Formats: sequence, C-alpha cells, structure tokens
Amino acid sequence: MISKKIESAINDQINAEFWSAYLYLSMSTYCAHKSLPGAANWFHIQFKEEQDHAEKFMSFILSRGGQVLLQPVAKVETSWESLLSAFKDTLAHEKVVTAKINHIYDLAVEEKDYATQSLLNWFIDEQVEEEETAQQMIDTLGMIGDGYGLYQFDKELAARVYTPIVTA
Ligand code: FEO
Repeated sequence: MISKKIESAINDQINAEFWSAYLYLSMSTYCAHKSLPGAANWFHIQFKEEQDHAEKFMSFILSRGGQVLLQPVAKVETSWESLLSAFKDTLAHEKVVTAKINHIYDLAVEEKDYATQSLLNWFIDEQVEEEETAQQMIDTLGMIGDGYGLYQFDKELAARVYTPIVTA
C-alpha cells in the first residue's frame, strides 16, 4: 500500500507530466506554423511520450492501492522566438521535472518505500537522456543558424518515430 505522502507527490508528478505534454504539443503546433514539419513531428512525439510518463505513474499508483487524482494543467507558452529558443525552454523545463522527480525520490528514501524508488530509477535515467538530448539540440542549432542548415536539420527531426512506453 502506498503512503498518502507518496501518493500525493506522485499525483503532483502526473500533473507535471501532463503539463510537459501540453508544453510540447504547443511547441509542435508552433513549429508547424513556422513551416518546420520535422520539428513539429519531433515535439509531437515528445508530447506522446510525456503522456506515457503520466500513465506509467498512474498505473503505479493504482497497482499499489492508491487513488489517481487528476488536476488542472497549467498554462503553457504558445510562441517562441526560434526553434533554438524552444529547445532552450525544453531544457529548462526538463531540469524542473528532474528536480521534482528527485524530490519524490528523497521522500521514498525517507519512507523506505523501495517500490517507488525502483519506479523512479527508470525516470531518473529518462531525465538524463532528455536533458542530454535537449542540450544536443541547442548545440546543433547554435552551430547551424537559420537558413539552409535549419532546413536540413528539420528533415532529420522528421525521421523521429514514436515508440510507446510500456506502462503496465
Ligand atoms: Fe516526463 Fe520530459 O519528462
């Protein structure tokens, strides 16, 4: 059985994952509007992955006898100066998410909740990857600038394919 404290923290994290999904959906529509279909695809897959993250947390609460409590999703930005600016926001956002996950991990250690620690190990690894990817995007976009380089890079982003995360 999950403790009320951990249940509440994970419910907050579910909200943060949907907030992330909403942000990346917004970035996807921004990119589509700016004639960057590859980047729109990339962020749309990110949107779906964030929904998977929320579902992974939801499944965990339910499997441990807890209750999922969905909360309103906070407003997100709808426009950015450039694709580079969107990826800078992505990195900043992921750092916030990482801090939230680390906080839940601290609670799970305090409570000797090993099952939650095991779940969070997956998310901690995922955050390392997400921050690294965002940083790589920033570095690449900083090198290529606008114009033909951006056009080619957008084609690379078009190749990203969605792979569902198993949540059960
Ligand atoms: Fe669910 Fe991008 O962290």
